[in-house]
Amino acid sequence: MAFQKIVVGYDGSEYSLKALKKAIEIAKCTLGEIYVVGVVKPLEFGIVDYITPEELEEYEKEEITKEEKFLKEAIKLVEESGLKATYKVLEGNPSEEMMNYADDIKADLIVVGHRGIGGFKRLLLGSTSSELVKYANQSVLVVK
Ligand SMILES: Nc1ncnc2c1ncn2[C@@H]1O[C@H](COP(=O)(O)OP(=O)(O)OP(=O)(O)O)[C@@H](O)[C@H]1O
Ligand SMILES: [Mg+2]
Repeated sequence: MAFQKIVVGYDGSEYSLKALKKAIEIAKCTLGEIYVVGVVKPLEFGIVDYITPEELEEYEKEEITKEEKFLKEAIKLVEESGLKATYKVLEGNPSEEMMNYADDIKADLIVVGHRGIGGFKRLLLGSTSSELVKYANQSVLVVK
């Protein structure tokens, strides 16, 4: 059966919540599993020059904890639907990290929203979703 391992990119935006809900509907039909992924972006190099390594470590820890908190909320939603769910916090470039993760776990579908947080409203498709559509080895569903 197709679409057994579904990776969902979750950045906390309303768009990614909509994507998660669609992924749940699909997984219910295929009896699939959902892997919710949140990617924390590292600080820009320009900023890194002005803070101490300890501050940088503290910042990264905080970001990861924050990310874990809302990924756990997402997982709750999946489990309430009676599905098996896993979450993963990664660090780096969102599309690259999601693609690597999807390859690692041999996922067969990646689901994302068409926009995320911090994107320009006039953009129809954010950079994360368009890079996934272009470069991922799996099928990609961009939820609108
Ligand atoms: N850091 C992230 N971690 C996990 N999923 C993400 C992340 N960023 C984006 N996504 C996923 O990709 C979808 C589209 O977001 P994208 O980043 O492409 O748009 P944007 O934020 O509006 O634009 P941009 O980031 O290019 O300024 C989101 O709805 C979400 O599903
Ligand atoms: Mg974005």
